[in-house]
Amino acid sequence: MVSLATRYLGLNLRNPLIVGASSLTMTAKGVRACAAAGAGAVVLKSLFEEQVRLDTAALDQSLEAEESWHSEVFALMEANVSMRYGTREYLQVVRDCKAATDIPVIASVNCVSTEWWEDFAGEVTAAGADALELNIAIMPRTLVTTGAEIEDRYAEIVKVARKTVRIPIAVKLGPYFTSIPQVVVRLREAGADGFVLFNRFYRPTVDIETLTLTAADPYSTSDELAPSVRWICMLAERVSADFAAATGVHTPEDVIRVVLAGSNAVQVVSALYLQGVKHLRVLREGVEEWMESHGYSTLDEFRGLMCQARHPDNEMFSRCQYIKGLVGME
Ligand SMILES: Cc1cc2nc3c(=O)[nH]c(=O)nc-3n(C[C@H](O)[C@H](O)[C@H](O)COP(=O)(O)O)c2cc1C
Repeated sequence: MVSLATRYLGLNLRNPLIVGASSLTMTAKGVRACAAAGAGAVVLKSLFEEQVRLDTAALDQSLEAEESWHSEVFALMEANVSMRYGTREYLQVVRDCKAATDIPVIASVNCVSTEWWEDFAGEVTAAGADALELNIAIMPRTLVTTGAEIEDRYAEIVKVARKTVRIPIAVKLGPYFTSIPQVVVRLREAGADGFVLFNRFYRPTVDIETLTLTAADPYSTSDELAPSVRWICMLAERVSADFAAATGVHTPEDVIRVVLAGSNAVQVVSALYLQGVKHLRVLREGVEEWMESHGYSTLDEFRGLMCQARHPDNEMFSRCQYIKGLVGME
């Protein structure tokens, strides 16, 4: 018998398969379906900071006045106002999800500043969330904003969250930093307990027939897992924080790969949109089979086996460029 039990953010998970923030985890019904399909935990659909503001401002006024809307929020608001949660509705969703399931429920806030959601962050603990995921995505919108200014804002958000909530905090980051290790260490010092590497942002593109701006494919492929494998390999066991791999986890092999890199858990979204939540079983059984055939009975026995801390002389992950001859490629 193998056990997939793991610990993430101080929580006990029956397996490392977390359903990531998405419409799949927007309601208690969705969360119950994820749990019944075998999820180890869920991250609820993010409450967008703009929605916190909306709780106190008229929707129409805000739509007109605010130019910096995250496009996904905009679409959500426009498409179906009834689907939108304000903070009160969100807190009720947290309570309903906790009542509907016994797996850990991680609340999520999309934040670009610290001023709007501080009260909410405290309330979310009272509502019973087991942890809070900060989905921080700050776009450099001017030609003069520096990377350092943006990173300062990330650190400030984490510090304020740490002061406000007692539950564990994970920070979900995108891959676009000049020095990911330094950012992770800084946010760890600011109070983050774990990191979700990486978020996959909304991708606008150009339709060359209609000459309009459209959204590119919202779903990832397994090929997109490489940055998570690389950075978790580089950071695990060097930074005392938990890591959840995200973006591109589609197969049991993907799960095994990121655990070997040092992940405590994985987040899955696209694969479940494409295959249904029943795919969680395929992932779980595939990992179990691999463990049995390789003689492992717990995840801890192979977690981090491939991380760079254990292979300090191996430069595979710290290399940026191909070198002709060495790897046999042009
Ligand atoms: C329809 C949809 C809605 C999403 N909503 C959120 C969200 O509210 N908050 C968030 O942090 N990520 C959100 N994401 C991103 C996912 O949580 C996940 O990080 C991303 O899809 C990459 O994982 P994947 O390769 O398994 O899809 C959403 C993704 C999709 C496809």
